[in-house]
Amino acid sequence: MFHMFVLFCLCWQHLICVFGSESNEIQSVSVMEGESVTLNTDVTEIHKHDDILWKYGAEKSLIAKINQETGNSSTYDVPDGRFRDRLKLDDQTGSLTIINFTTQHAGLCEVKILMAKLSSKTFSVSVYARLPVPIISRDCSSSSSSSQQNCSLLCSVVNVGHVTLSWYKGNSLLSSISVSDLSISLSLPLEVEYQDKNTYSCVLNNPISNQTQHLDITQLCHTCADSVHCCGSTEAVIRLVLSALVGVATVIVLVYDIRSRRAELSIICFILCFV
Ligand SMILES: *[C@@H]1O[C@H](CO)[C@@H](O)[C@H](O)[C@H]1NC(C)=O
Ligand SMILES: *[C@@H]1O[C@H](CO)[C@@H](O)[C@H](O)[C@H]1NC(C)=O
Ligand SMILES: *[C@@H]1O[C@H](CO)[C@@H](O)[C@H](O)[C@H]1NC(C)=O
Ligand SMILES: *[C@@H]1O[C@H](CO)[C@@H](O)[C@H](O)[C@H]1NC(C)=O
Repeated sequence: MFHMFVLFCLCWQHLICVFGSESNEIQSVSVMEGESVTLNTDVTEIHKHDDILWKYGAEKSLIAKINQETGNSSTYDVPDGRFRDRLKLDDQTGSLTIINFTTQHAGLCEVKILMAKLSSKTFSVSVYARLPVPIISRDCSSSSSSSQQNCSLLCSVVNVGHVTLSWYKGNSLLSSISVSDLSISLSLPLEVEYQDKNTYSCVLNNPISNQTQHLDITQLCHTCADSVHCCGSTEAVIRLVLSALVGVATVIVLVYDIRSRRAELSIICFILCFV
């Protein structure tokens, strides 16, 4: 007699993929974006009458199949092609390996294992993005940056989700900030004295990996006045030029509005829109 197990894969914020079954046993698997993940059936040997079917997505597309009776085993892609050349099926165990796993592979999954011996299993697969190295910069906008003995710093990262950003002094945690959202930018301040000889580092981590940037006080803490002056005035000049251009354009339109017919006005507007 054959038994059927149905395993589900639920997607949470496109990052967490849960392969669930009717049983209670849950095995968590974490995978870094770009790496491979193997979903083990824990079958040691497939018997003559066993069938293993791996299905994926709300459409329950068949992505892998073993029919031991005919000796046939194959993998298939889904209609949008996201599994192209990424699936490997182990003929002996029925385990499925997904190569170069990315967030787009999260989705509704179903695995049907039809075999003579009763067994069932649940996988919870979490996909984590590769982390960027955090960037430490001097925070010249901080009010205390004018202080003679202190230097205000910011550690920043962009486009991250499900991460924690922390400042460490040696091995001890000074401060940290966590986000669960996707694709947001984070920054965390730190104030040090110029004379400080401790080692500071800013660490970005998710549950499976981390990236560290070490602080070099002597290198970062001396350029504040210059950089603020430079960038602030450049921006001001650009803004001034832009305002002047808009003003001139408005005057031209007004003049034409008064003097010309509508057809001409719309040509001017058309040109201005392109500028
Ligand atoms: C494998 O399946 C194909 C059809 O999908 C069939 O033509 C072929 O005979 C099968 N191979 C074996 C060894 O049974
Ligand atoms: C992994 O997948 C991504 C996105 O589909 C692709 O850009 C990248 O080249 C792949 N990497 C490898 C090693 O196949
Ligand atoms: C300078 O920073 C230290 C911490 O590093 C802080 O205790 C102190 O109050 C700061 N001083 C000023 C003037 O901001
Ligand atoms: C960063 O990861 C390494 C292993 O890759 C680990 O040894 C270290 O403790 C981690 N550091 C932090 C601050 O999580």
